[in-house]
Amino acid sequence: MKAVLFEEHGGPEVLHLAEAPDPTPGPGEVVVEIHAASVNAADYKVRQGGGAYSGGGVRLPHILGRDFSGVVSAVGPDVADLEVGDAVFGVCDQGVEGAYAEKIAIKAAIIAKKPARLSHVEAAAMALTSLTALWALEDTAKLKPGETILIQGGAGGVAGFAIQLAKHLGATVIATASANNHDYVRQLGAARVIDYTKEDFSKVVADCDVVFDTVGGDVQIRSYDVLKPGGRLVWIAPAPAGFEPTRRDVKVLRPGVARDRAHLERMLVLLEASAVSPPAITRYKLADAAEAHRVSEARHLQGKLVFEIR
Ligand SMILES: NC(=O)c1ccc[n+]([C@@H]2O[C@H](COP(=O)([O-])OP(=O)(O)OC[C@H]3O[C@@H](n4cnc5c(N)ncnc54)[C@H](OP(=O)(O)O)[C@@H]3O)[C@@H](O)[C@H]2O)c1
Repeated sequence: MKAVLFEEHGGPEVLHLAEAPDPTPGPGEVVVEIHAASVNAADYKVRQGGGAYSGGGVRLPHILGRDFSGVVSAVGPDVADLEVGDAVFGVCDQGVEGAYAEKIAIKAAIIAKKPARLSHVEAAAMALTSLTALWALEDTAKLKPGETILIQGGAGGVAGFAIQLAKHLGATVIATASANNHDYVRQLGAARVIDYTKEDFSKVVADCDVVFDTVGGDVQIRSYDVLKPGGRLVWIAPAPAGFEPTRRDVKVLRPGVARDRAHLERMLVLLEASAVSPPAITRYKLADAAEAHRVSEARHLQGKLVFEIR
């Protein structure tokens, strides 16, 4: 099969299309012929030698890619609920990657059947983003109706799903974004959008119940200023190394984001209820992986970047 891989860490140019061994399904696994796979911000960090793999590192050559949509082409022993021909989508287990490829072997128990109303490109775009936002806002923040949430990085992949989810849960959503993304973020459900390039959000927002930080760095440090006593700061992008929280009267929470079928199916229930819809999507071919990474790494995309593989 063809896959995008790299033999050494570095810039986007280290990514190239090459032949890789065809996967075979182990016990409890299926092989999926991938139709679409998405680019996540973690991917460029792993390519550079960091991200979730810092310390241990990945074995090179390495195939990136954490979420995908496709069709089951082989079923391993002990799989009772999926068959060859089923359209499925999902997210690789923690510490496992390999979706920038024509095929992947994956545990059947952590993927879900893809409904016909969602294209493969849309399902790939929504897999890890929805899983992360659901774990962050429902399981971790336990966001309640009537609460106010500030979502940092509103136009990004995870934040875009989070805005729709928070609004559906009955919260008032404030989001940060640069000016050219304001219409998009409003259309997702933000009641108020702050242009972080012109205004310091920490000076114009106050008394939030929850901040969901998908940006990190200095943005996370300033996020403490807008929380009411007893508020919750939920983060998926880190504060600067060595930073110690400045307030003792708020909770600081990091979602676990386990990969499971239940959360993918929860996303499908929300989709069916028209509470959420697919994000803005820019499509690429696998051969253009380096270009997709340049856009992802620049950190000003709208919605999701997705490889259309078949
Ligand atoms: N399991 C996990 O813990 C988990 C899962 C998924 C993602 N993550 C992490 O979460 C972060 C977000 O991931 P993602 O894939 O959603 O990112 P993404 O889609 O690449 O987000 C890019 C967005 O960030 C916005 N942005 C950049 N700087 C900003 C700033 N200073 N203030 C407000 N918005 C800003 C940009 O909008 P503008 O153009 O408007 O600036 C752009 O839309 C990454 O660090 C990723 O590694 C963690």
